[in-house]
Amino acid sequence: MKSIKKIGVITGGGDCSGLNAVINGITKTAITKYGLEVIGYKRGYSGLYTNDYQVLDLNAVSGIMHEGGTILKSSNKDNLFNYPKRQEDGSFVHEDVSDVAVENMRALGVDALIVIGGDGTLTSARDFHRKGIPVVGVPKTIDNDLPATDLTFGYNTSLENIVDALDKIHTTAYSHDRIIVVEVMGRHTGWLALEGGLAGSADVILIPEIPYDLTKVVDKIRERDAQGKNFAIVVVSEGAKPKDGAVHVREIIQDSADAVRLGGVGDVVRQQLQAMIDNHEVRYTNLSYLQRGGIASQLDRALGLRYGVEAVELLLAGGSGQMVRCQGRDITSVNLEEVVGAGETGETSKGGAKYVDPQGQMVAAAKAVGISFGD
Ligand code: F6P
Repeated sequence: MKSIKKIGVITGGGDCSGLNAVINGITKTAITKYGLEVIGYKRGYSGLYTNDYQVLDLNAVSGIMHEGGTILKSSNKDNLFNYPKRQEDGSFVHEDVSDVAVENMRALGVDALIVIGGDGTLTSARDFHRKGIPVVGVPKTIDNDLPATDLTFGYNTSLENIVDALDKIHTTAYSHDRIIVVEVMGRHTGWLALEGGLAGSADVILIPEIPYDLTKVVDKIRERDAQGKNFAIVVVSEGAKPKDGAVHVREIIQDSADAVRLGGVGDVVRQQLQAMIDNHEVRYTNLSYLQRGGIASQLDRALGLRYGVEAVELLLAGGSGQMVRCQGRDITSVNLEEVVGAGETGETSKGGAKYVDPQGQMVAAAKAVGISFGD
């Protein structure tokens, strides 16, 4: 393999906290330990296609460790292997434009890519590897739904944001004897709702892996009334669905590779609960993007930085087509083929997204302290 002198970095998919820590770890390791050059493509794969990039030197990554989002910006619409081109009538025609990206890299002398993203972004990383480009992936998502890694960075900061919100919402729920439904993200997995709800003292947690029956939720509210509690916090994952029902789709984004956007189930739960309960007001808050942004937690900074360092080490050791991952407290690596392709429905040749186990220890612990899952 040609020796690597210049690395291109890409941040793709939804933003989260910790992205800048990864960029910091990559850039400092590449420059100070190995004397390499680093550039960052702007707006995910879009920058690779349009040759929009910035040089990443030590100044560019100074003071960014704690900042949420990504200094390189991001996009979740630019799958270059199935690129949406808008037609005059507003429809989209999809084309494989990945050769343009490879030619842009060659012209700029970029020898390899480090791609930071979730399922969609890492699928393209795998596809560039298959085209012969040296690529290493770094697992990012607030949803924590990527298989083959114990942790993705971004998840912990989102949990902190959720817990902070739940602490605040408790004061209103208590003061007004209200039921407050709080919707959180997570796509088709319930990690954010489960771990956020556990730490934030939720009374009910509704997750995609355990379809709910609202009569069971009302039972829990009545139980609390009988104990003189007179309020309740119901955390609902955006992908939660009723028994024999479907997920609530907020929007279909035609030019996005991952077109389905979930959201709004919390308001449906609010309305239905209100119709079943007349001794409490039922209110609804969607934490939405508030849970995705802000100053990165210690865990996400340290994890992100270590992922960045190990991504450079792996690339230089010839580990193309691999992803760095967290196993226990160690950073190791895994073949991208074992990771990607989970998609919206969790269907994949390699076992799908990483789901909450309804029979697992975490759900059991929540049930042991009286949290209802509506089942
Ligand atoms: O994957 C991260 C995530 O925040 C999901 O939890 C959520 O469903 C989705 O992205 C929202 O996407 P968008 O930023 O396009 O609204």
